[in-house]
Amino acid sequence: MANEGVDKGRRRFLIGASSVVGGAGVVAAVYPFLASWQPSARAVAAGAPVEADISKIEPGQLLRVEWRGKPVWILSRTPQMLEDLPTLNSRLRDPESNVESQQPAYAKNPTRSIKPEISVLVGICTHLGCSPAFRPDVAPADLGPEWKGGYFCACHGSRFDLAGRVYQGVPAPINLLVPPHKYLSDGVLLIGVDEGAA
Ligand code: FES
Repeated sequence: MANEGVDKGRRRFLIGASSVVGGAGVVAAVYPFLASWQPSARAVAAGAPVEADISKIEPGQLLRVEWRGKPVWILSRTPQMLEDLPTLNSRLRDPESNVESQQPAYAKNPTRSIKPEISVLVGICTHLGCSPAFRPDVAPADLGPEWKGGYFCACHGSRFDLAGRVYQGVPAPINLLVPPHKYLSDGVLLIGVDEGAA
């Protein structure tokens, strides 16, 4: 009887031990796979590029991803949004994106983008670093009848259009930053690196 009790105890121990080994084996098998396609959190914080799946963004929708600890906005602009951009030029501080630090050369164009419909911006206000709100609504009561959609920084009232171009008469001095980026395919963007750096 006493032996039986010991055996049962041993059996329980052996079963327990093999479950733990099995669990460790699964972890070991999965980790190298994850590590091969996803940079570590430390590498991302240090500036590793970040992939964004944009295949499911509908026109008018904004996708937020994080790069170097900052928000990056990827907006799929509608034809109407694109049509409105040039009508705002006379009210903007740098409508032609002449401040070179704020975009790579391939985004120094009327839409500040590689493909006209897809806008990529760092979502940090160029005044004191708040993150502006996405306000695609046209002529809302709080932003006035002239508002055609854009980004509004509630910290001190800076306004940007849907290409990240800053309005005149607000505290932010320059346009929002377009980060380096490139298309890996039609549906996948790589933020943080471009053809020049590859
Ligand atoms: S931080 Fe955006 S307006 Fe001051």
